[in-house]
Amino acid sequence: MRASMTEDVKRLAIRVRKSRGEEIRRSLLDMGELDTTLRIGKDGDFLLFPLREDTRLSENIENWRLWGKGIGIVSLGFEKIKGRIVGGYRECLNGLPEGLRPFLPSSFDVIGDLVVIKLQREVEPFGGNIASAILESHPGIRGVFQDLGVKGSFRIRVLRHLAGENRTLTIHKEYDMRLKTDIAKVYFTPRLAGERHRLSRMIGKSERVLDMFAGIGPFSIALARASPASEIHAVDANPDAIILMEENIRLNKVENIIPHQGDARELTPALGGKRPFDRALMNLPHSSLEFLDTVLDVMGYGWIHLYDILKRDELKAHRRFIKDLVENKGMNILTLSSREIKGYSPVEAFVVHDLKLKG
Ligand SMILES: C[S@@+](CC[C@H](N)C(=O)[O-])C[C@H]1O[C@@H](n2cnc3c(N)ncnc32)[C@H](O)[C@@H]1O
Repeated sequence: MRASMTEDVKRLAIRVRKSRGEEIRRSLLDMGELDTTLRIGKDGDFLLFPLREDTRLSENIENWRLWGKGIGIVSLGFEKIKGRIVGGYRECLNGLPEGLRPFLPSSFDVIGDLVVIKLQREVEPFGGNIASAILESHPGIRGVFQDLGVKGSFRIRVLRHLAGENRTLTIHKEYDMRLKTDIAKVYFTPRLAGERHRLSRMIGKSERVLDMFAGIGPFSIALARASPASEIHAVDANPDAIILMEENIRLNKVENIIPHQGDARELTPALGGKRPFDRALMNLPHSSLEFLDTVLDVMGYGWIHLYDILKRDELKAHRRFIKDLVENKGMNILTLSSREIKGYSPVEAFVVHDLKLKG
């Protein structure tokens, strides 16, 4: 095996094809398993992701086998990234009483060159110290903000500036897309990168797609790039999201997205008036189910991907609701599969329902 790294630091690593690299990188980051102080390796068509020295992933082989076929675990040497601190930001953190260390966040969102971090009440007074430690340990990061939750129907994050540049506009890179976003004005999460990639591998050659809650356009752009002959209608109620979506369409040089600003419930009937849609994306996870009725009226025999935040014991009822609604419209379901993408709270899960309609 040819590895393009020096033999600096020996680590266990996940070996995966480049086509699934971003999805696996994001999963490892979410699990806190990726050693971000080491340079990701390359071996022909494969990427090699170094795991933290204290990784628990190899103990539970099932954990990474769940990601599917073609993923291996190997042991080899990796090059240290200059300026990155082993052990992450905790190693640079000063001024925090030792007893509060267990309350420190184990991960945070990196959006472009900005970090958004949730803090437990116990460590909130030390937000400035934590943010300075992040800036010191992550040379590419320019500003750090505390996440105080999302509010309103536009799902906009309430932020507190903690350290570095007090700027909220940034460009986030995901796979080969560049996404301009303003973390204070629109909703965007890097955590759905794997999901966008999955849908971009599902789309056919020439589909009519409705992205009902499109935000700055990450799903629409991923699909538009994967299928240039498709026609993608991207709707969002937030005018700032539409302005950024239009910029992102230009940045990513796609020509098959038609943005619409307004309420998806009001706009959808007219958009579906001419020809039914082959695929609909519904990413308003607290209330997507309320819009299903509207979408079914404009669908052909295609796919609906409905994102849903639910209590785990509500899954059966939500699936029943979907089935009943489809049947009451005189339509038929070919398949309905529901999959947990990530945990949302101790009792709630973020689930995608993939629904395929048939004639
Ligand atoms: C969870 S975000 C998803 C954004 C985008 N799909 C993404 O993954 O980044 C939901 C989006 O729906 C928009 N929204 C909320 N209610 C809406 C409505 N009734 N009609 C259209 N858009 C709406 C919000 O402005 C927000 O951008």
